[in-house]
Amino acid sequence: AQMQTVGIRGRFFSFIRAPKGPGDSGSYLYLRDGMLVIQDGRIVAIGPTNEVEGTLPPGTIVTHYERELILPGFIDTHIHFPQTQVIASYGTQLLDWLTRYTFVEEQKYYDPAHCTRQAAFFLDELLRNGTTTAVAYGSVHPQSVDAFFTESEERGTCMIAGKVMMNRNAPLGLTDTVETSYADSKTLIERWHKRGRQRYAVTPRFAITSTQAQLEAAGALLREFPDVYMQTHLSENLDEIAFVQSLFPDSKNYTDVYDRVGLLGPRSLFGHCIHLNEEELQRMADTSSVAVFCPTSNLFIGSGLFDMASTEKSKRPVRVGLGTDVGGGTSYSMLQTAAEAYKVLQLKGQNLPPATAFYMMTRGNADLLSMGGEIGSLECGCFADFVVLDSKATPAMLHRMETIGDMIEEELFVLMTLGDDRAVRATYVQGRKLHDRNLA
Ligand code: GUN
Ligand code: ZN
Repeated sequence: AQMQTVGIRGRFFSFIRAPKGPGDSGSYLYLRDGMLVIQDGRIVAIGPTNEVEGTLPPGTIVTHYERELILPGFIDTHIHFPQTQVIASYGTQLLDWLTRYTFVEEQKYYDPAHCTRQAAFFLDELLRNGTTTAVAYGSVHPQSVDAFFTESEERGTCMIAGKVMMNRNAPLGLTDTVETSYADSKTLIERWHKRGRQRYAVTPRFAITSTQAQLEAAGALLREFPDVYMQTHLSENLDEIAFVQSLFPDSKNYTDVYDRVGLLGPRSLFGHCIHLNEEELQRMADTSSVAVFCPTSNLFIGSGLFDMASTEKSKRPVRVGLGTDVGGGTSYSMLQTAAEAYKVLQLKGQNLPPATAFYMMTRGNADLLSMGGEIGSLECGCFADFVVLDSKATPAMLHRMETIGDMIEEELFVLMTLGDDRAVRATYVQGRKLHDRNLA
């Protein structure tokens, strides 16, 4: 096959390392007139246009974005693919929300045709919002994960997902058993983990819907397949925590329920982590486990305000990711998710500088997944997964940008505060344009 070379010209922004605070311009690469060169879906060169242009093979097609800002595709580290018709459900907190809305919708995923339609919608909606990689929960049905990975493979996206394991405290149509959850997860791992860009996450829903034996089965899967991921929910809601303590009276705390069966570790993602005590945070830090901050969900379901400063406390830093948690979350947009994260931290007397927010959405989340060098930045060797952002997408943004000009961190703050899917001009995966706002 011929190696086709493609060029993209425009303004580029990509992190080199985590920013230490506002104005840390050494943490990123900002090219005002840059050129990105793509071969076989990967980045093979990036630099100032006047340096790179001359190296292109004759006849190379170059797409020029004159006013946009090009960033690595966003990474969402916590989202539920079967909840596209749960988002915006009225009036309840976590346990009632699950029973009244979520468990009703998720039962529809026994039907493979439904799974395929919903997976296609879900992935296209992520791309419309500039998200090119997500860590997603399926439903309890293995066919939901087959449909999800099939649609992802068709688009060439890098996705992480798993079949939810749940064998109690849920409707019959939504429960598996210790044996079937283990066997079905294992089959899915063997079928999908590391097939192309797809990756598997062992997915016990949370302690309330799994017996001790099922959590042990999840731990056994992690020992059998050491490079798969693990995702679950932890310490989201006070009633949930009390229920977990009554179900597992011997455990020291909620985190300990997972810890005792070997679910903590550097590839383990714990959604929410709002109400952890110091002992729990210490175990999270000791095991390099990841806490995922889901601000729109935590506000919408009324779960609480994530304390990022104490979670990341330098004496025992817990790694923190950022996720939408749709359908508990209210937006597919990582820009809007960052905006809500900023507001939550404001209420905590903390700050979220725009550079830190964009680092979390891109390189930070990639590093949490041990995928730096593959996704999350625009370095040579990375997949050409990127988003073309328009900081002047709406009248309010255009008007605000008049006072900003070429100040990149201020522009990023406008993008996260006022931007959403309207600010996504285009999304590319492996160098192929999969979304174009002006053609949609
Ligand atoms: N805890 C257990 N399941 C869920 C879910 O689907 N969404 C949220 N936000 N929390 C959960
Ligand atoms: Zn969730």
